[in-house]
Formats: sequence, C-alpha cells, structure tokens
Amino acid sequence: MRDPEWYDLFHRRGTRRDFLRVGGAAAGLLALASVPGCRADARLRAIGSYPFKLGVASGDPEPELVVLWTRLDPEALETVGAHENPVTIDYELARDHNFKEIVRTGSAIASPEFGHSISAEVGGLDPGHEYFYRMIVGGEVSPVGRTKTVPAPENTPDRIRFAFASCQDYEDGYFTALQHLAQEDLDFIIHLGDYIYEYAEHDRDTVRHHTGPEIQTLQEYRNRYIQYRSDPDLQAAHAAASWIVTMDDHEVDNNWADGSPEDDQSPEQFLLRRTAAFQAYFEFMPLRQASMPSGPNIQLYRRIRFGNLMEISILDTRQYRSNQPCLGGISPSCPTHISPDQSILGRSQREWLFEGLTRSEARWNALAQQVMVARIRGIDAEGQETWSMDKWDGYPLERSAMINRMADAETLNPVVLTGDIHSNWVTDLKRDFDDPSSETVATEFVCTSLSSDGDGQDMTAGGERLLRRNSHLKFYNGQRGYVTANVTPDLWTSEFKVVPVVTEAGGSLETRATFVIEDGHPGAEEA
Ligand SMILES: [Fe+2]
Repeated sequence: MRDPEWYDLFHRRGTRRDFLRVGGAAAGLLALASVPGCRADARLRAIGSYPFKLGVASGDPEPELVVLWTRLDPEALETVGAHENPVTIDYELARDHNFKEIVRTGSAIASPEFGHSISAEVGGLDPGHEYFYRMIVGGEVSPVGRTKTVPAPENTPDRIRFAFASCQDYEDGYFTALQHLAQEDLDFIIHLGDYIYEYAEHDRDTVRHHTGPEIQTLQEYRNRYIQYRSDPDLQAAHAAASWIVTMDDHEVDNNWADGSPEDDQSPEQFLLRRTAAFQAYFEFMPLRQASMPSGPNIQLYRRIRFGNLMEISILDTRQYRSNQPCLGGISPSCPTHISPDQSILGRSQREWLFEGLTRSEARWNALAQQVMVARIRGIDAEGQETWSMDKWDGYPLERSAMINRMADAETLNPVVLTGDIHSNWVTDLKRDFDDPSSETVATEFVCTSLSSDGDGQDMTAGGERLLRRNSHLKFYNGQRGYVTANVTPDLWTSEFKVVPVVTEAGGSLETRATFVIEDGHPGAEEA
C-alpha cells in the first residue's frame, strides 16, 4: 500500500505557504530568462481562485524523461482576466514528497488554443527513479503527483509492477476501482481506452449523469473530459503513477473505424468530429508532443522499453482499420471478412509492429491494445457460426499474420493486454484456433471495465457458453476492476482485482483470480 503521508499530500490541495517554504531554492531557478519562448507577461502574480481543480498527471516515461500534465481552470483565469492569454505554469520535481530535495524546476506555457493545458516534457532525470512533482500558478500550488522514469536500456530490473484498465463510463458507476488503483504500489498504469463515453445522458436509471447531448464539437468533448476528470478517484489514480494511454472507440464515437462513424454523418462531418475529439484527447492526456494531433490524425502507436525486461508496443486499432465487415456487430462471415485487404492495424502500423516483434530482445513483449485478439466462436439461433466484427475476429487474416509473426520470429514471451468488453478473460493465442493441440504462441489478458455496465456478476450464461465452445479460453469474470501485472525475468503474474459494487460508493476490492506465465512457456496457468 502507498505511503499514507504522500497520499494525504495529494488529497490536500497545495497552499501558498507550501510554495513559499520551497521558494528560496526554486525561485532563482525559475528565472524567466532561462525559459525559451516564455513571455514575461505570461506569469501570473496572483489568481482569484484555485486553478488546479482537475489535478495533475504524468505519462509516457522514458529513462530520463517524463511528461507532466495539468490544465488550468478557466474560471480561475477569468478572475484575473487571463482566460484568453497564454499563462506560464511553473513546475517542480523532487526526490521526496515533501519537496526537500528538488531536482528539476521549469516552466511551460498553457495557451488558450489548448484550453490552458500543458504536457511538459521534463528531461535530464535519472533512469528507474521515483519523483514527485507539483505545479505553481499565481502563488497557488497544485496537488502532488508521483511519477517514475523507466530503467536504462541496458539494465535488467528485478521486477516491474504495473496495472492495466479500461472503460470508465461515468454514468454506470463510481470510480471506486480507480480509488483502489491509486493505492497500489505501481511503476505505471496503462489505460486501454474508453476513458470517456460520448453519449448523451441515458434515460435508464444510472448512478450519475452525463451533461449535455452526444458530444460532437471541441467544446463538448472538452466539457465531457472536465466532467470525468473532476472525479476525485480518477484524479488520485493519475497522481499516483504515470499513465500510458491509448484510445478506443468512445473517445470519438461508438465503434468508429478510420473515416466511418457509427452515427449518420457524412465523411466530412465525421472528420471534423474526429479532429475535435483528438484535440480534446491530447489536451487531457499526459502525452508526448509527438502525439500532438494534426487535423484528424493523431500518432498514438508507440513503444516504451523497460530495460531488457519488457517492451510494450502501444497500438491504435481504430484510426487505420478497414470498416467492420459484414455490417459489423455479431454476424456470420461474408466475403469481405476473409479478404486479404481487411486490416485492423493499417499498413504502416502493421509494418512497425511486425518489425518490432522481430527485432525485440526484451524478455517480455507486451502489446497494449483495445479489442480482443482471441477467436470467440458464437452460434446464432439458426445454428450459424458468428463473429464479433469489431474485434480481431473481424480481421482474422491479419490476426493469423500477427500470431504467425510472433511464432516465426521467436518473439520472447508475447503477452497481449486488452480492454473494451467489460469483462475479464485469460486466453491462449493459438497458431490455429481450430486445432486445440496447435502451438500456443502468446497469452492474452483482457481487463474488465472500471465502471461501464455497473456492478456485473462473476459468471453469466453467456460467459459459460463461450468458455465451453472455445477451449483456448481459460477464465471469465464479469465484475468491475482492473488487472495488476508483476513482471520478473522468470515469471509474469496477473492479478484480476474486482470491485463487486460500483453503483454505491465505497465498494471493497478483492483479488478474484491470479494467473502466471513462466518465461518461455506461453499460456497462463491459474496460480
Ligand atoms: Fe467500453
């Protein structure tokens, strides 16, 4: 569990006195002249109300660099007439949570074009080290965040411990799972998408309510992120560790694919919507500048290496995919389904991924991605085989190509981390899913939702049926929660942590199941 002293610091907002206490050492280093492009009039001497209502975050760590994020409250800026101006945010990084040993200070400009958010890349740090950070504007001090750089490329750390999670529909439940996640001792957190949901307020009975109609414009996407990010549990989880994020569909529109929306929109209308959605995503996520969107395009696939122990390829299976075949949904196969032109990755990402799977020398090779890779065979009322066309089941030839590449290139210990379907799964990824005796090439862990679909239940009739029909499926659970991964050179341990109740505040945390993979033996076993 987390050091309670530090955790308290996050929950207590900063004060002017905190800043003055460290001001002696920091003030000199914060000289404007040392900040390229920083205008003297961009630093506020005072501000009328607290500007850090959305908290702080960090992300995309490297051996010597982390990204620090915050976004200033527009009403606070308005109190001093600065809401249309660039504003300088000062930041401090320290080795300790009391900021006695400050190691880096600097500034970033929050511009109105990006809604006064910053994602500052702070370099010159030591590999594999824990840091604490905070921001300062107009004498107000933000909550304290904790972050960590990754190990140096040539090092093999003894262990890495992280968590992965997805799907946080604000209406369906409280973010109790995030409250528990914030108290785990983690090197980082991966969010696999559905960070927001685009829907208007539902007319069913929900515990909380979206504000406004289905979101389409930049301001509407921004307002939705503000609503989610105002949640104290989500803020605490961001402050507790750095996040590595990728998006799924609901950050834009349910089940969108490349230029195709779910809704009745022209391609031009949808690209404008995508542009707005990507800009808002970038504004609210702790992403590198390399992920800054350019119109309707955003670079999200990327790779993060943790010394020689692990490499994570973060994928984007929405932006470049062919449209879901056979009219989407859960459908019988059709000619498009098995066309070699169907791709969920798109050509460039596929080449990048396959090259990485071939070249990597890391002991564990994880893919952090959105939709289920394992084949799930369903049977409809007429007795026909059906496939969920929004998942890799809609793109079976590319799935085979990926699994074959892992096998042929002898990629060490491939592990796929998946979100999207609001249920926990463990699967064997087979060379030939039709032949249960064929080689297991990789392991897939699917994490459930944090809140989407409400409380859920341990087992469902559908879950039982799918486990029975698909022998490469090893585990199912339909409750809310997240998965932790403890990775050492010899063993990968995934713990499925569930919160049985999210429709009432204060749900407790349980470890529902633990699965391990031994080095060199793909396929997880229950511990
Ligand atoms: Fe979802």
